Amino acid sequence: MAADNNAARRSASGVRMKSTANQFDPKDAVWRPASANDIDAIARSAKIIHPDLPERPEVFAEKLSPFPSGCYVLVRHEEVIGYGLSHPWNLNCIPPLDSFLKGIPGDADCLYVHDVAVLPDVRGHGSAARYVDLIEECARKIGVDFLVLVSVYNTQRLWALYGFEVVNGSELDIKLRSYGPTAKYMIRSLKSP
Ligand SMILES: CC(C)(COP(=O)(O)OP(=O)(O)OC[C@H]1O[C@@H](n2cnc3c(N)ncnc32)[C@H](O)[C@@H]1OP(=O)(O)O)[C@@H](O)C(=O)NCCC(=O)NCCS
Repeated sequence: MAADNNAARRSASGVRMKSTANQFDPKDAVWRPASANDIDAIARSAKIIHPDLPERPEVFAEKLSPFPSGCYVLVRHEEVIGYGLSHPWNLNCIPPLDSFLKGIPGDADCLYVHDVAVLPDVRGHGSAARYVDLIEECARKIGVDFLVLVSVYNTQRLWALYGFEVVNGSELDIKLRSYGPTAKYMIRSLKSP
């Protein structure tokens, strides 16, 4: 899904961005496959973006190792300015935050987006949209029919734009606890209507 022109002109808060000589050019931001060498940069970005939802660098590393094809970093001139981590998983199962996966299930039926996060000053340029495109392709390649994620910080509206729908349930609510009070479990079906 490409960013529309409006998204490219607005900041994440919806405020129109002023044109300056140093203005961020969205064309400079590129998603590339993540590697173990990016873990420190991912952990540093996570500290800035998710100060209330801390995770250890080794937890990020363990998510990358079994399924690198779901893991990307957003880079601008080699500098990491965001990351997206996804792995095959089972529907309605939510790994607690800051926990090890201990492998991925053999009967995975979805691609679970552990996190997609972009540094504040480069938001609102369609980077999340481009990451969703990448993992949609990835999910289709491995033959799973669903993308799932836990929306935090009231980002449901954003994910709804990309076809994700909130799923409620008391068991899910219990599993969502480590993600904070705004967390919602969301699913996007990739099946043809
Ligand atoms: C969520 C996040 C990754 C989005 O990144 P982004 O590159 O700004 O996203 P996009 O530019 O693709 O966003 C597209 C649309 O979503 C909107 N949007 C972006 N962030 C949003 C937010 N936090 N809440 C609601 N809408 C948001 C944008 O305004 C835009 O809508 P528009 O086209 O109607 O203007 C980024 O805001 C972020 O890192 N947030 C903090 C971490 C986080 O919450 N991650 C999600 C965990 S599930």
